[in-house]
Amino acid sequence: MTDAIGLQDAAAHDPARAARGATSGPGHRTLTVEESLDFAAGQVRRLVTDSPGKLPTYTSGGKWVFDDDPWAPNWSGGFLTGMMWVFARRTGDPWWREQAERYCRQVEPRKSDPGTHDIGFVLEPSWGRWFDWTGDAHAREVLVEGGRTMAARLQEVGGYLSTWVDPGSTFIDVMMNVGIIFRAAKYADDPELAEIALRHCRTTRRHLVRGDGSTLHEGWFDTDSGEFLRAATHQGHRADSTWARGQAWAIYGFTTAYAHTGHADLLDTARRAADYYVRNTPDGVPPNDWLDPGRAPRREASAAAITAAGLLHLGAALGEQHGWAYRRYALDVLARLRSTEYLAADSAGWEGVLRHATYHERNGLGIDESVMWGDYYLVEALDLAAGPTPGPSPR
Ligand code: GLY
Repeated sequence: MTDAIGLQDAAAHDPARAARGATSGPGHRTLTVEESLDFAAGQVRRLVTDSPGKLPTYTSGGKWVFDDDPWAPNWSGGFLTGMMWVFARRTGDPWWREQAERYCRQVEPRKSDPGTHDIGFVLEPSWGRWFDWTGDAHAREVLVEGGRTMAARLQEVGGYLSTWVDPGSTFIDVMMNVGIIFRAAKYADDPELAEIALRHCRTTRRHLVRGDGSTLHEGWFDTDSGEFLRAATHQGHRADSTWARGQAWAIYGFTTAYAHTGHADLLDTARRAADYYVRNTPDGVPPNDWLDPGRAPRREASAAAITAAGLLHLGAALGEQHGWAYRRYALDVLARLRSTEYLAADSAGWEGVLRHATYHERNGLGIDESVMWGDYYLVEALDLAAGPTPGPSPR
């Protein structure tokens, strides 16, 4: 495998600048990794204290919206809990763990929800983190049941996991929900589950990832023959363009699938998706869609946060020799997001953590706002960049 052009560019970055972090634009300052984590913890603590049990998806004018998500069936309920687990581990404060467990129980029924392809999004940051940190036996059972529910979405003929839109549809986002099937396969010692997850990854690789590493948002299949019919999008600009968050899901999702399986084709796909992002995003924060012809297309900072976390995982999976340029680029992206241009630390009254994210441009939801997964993946990336937490794990 050769290093792609984008990464050679990333390698050419000034290492001293990279170590300092990107410079902030006029009127902005850049917080350190620790200060950014503290700021995020403060914002989450306020939300949990002021609005206990609420699971908002996006802000409006910087204030969390508590109505039901009008676009997707409640897919983002695990991200707030995921941040609590990070803070619990980093701070050792029992309050965080209490909250994290309470919020986990709130989303537990989703383990058997047949109405969504988003089970991994809900259960990985919540119950997955609980299990990873403590080895809790019930958390393991929840993950196994969630993985089985997700695997039941297999469209046997086409070899993909269908979305809630239609049995003939799959999204690039679904790559973020195959990890829970691989987990279930391992914990329940059920190779059939792993086979289902792998089939989905390979169908996605074949039909939703283009030769240049870019991705389509949605693929439509003939449910009788399994034949691929056409590309489509909901949150991107058009069917043949590249929606930035979808690209970020591909980077992270294929990296996770590789971590579970060790298959070289999945790693290659993760790298191609990453290289496309790097080549097309010199300053680290993409527009909502790279083909949006708008004169000043809106930024999608949540895609940058997901990518930073995904590239830190990819860099670790590749090891020092092949992974360092991905890590370097991820840390540069993170430095950009630590600037108060993006971090809401100097935005009085703003309730989210990361600004300038977009949920659903076409439907007018969460445009240039905070979104819960943007905050979550930023916290994950900051946690990864900060390195191991002092103190013993409770496991
Ligand atoms: N539903 C997944 C996303 O908006 O990225």
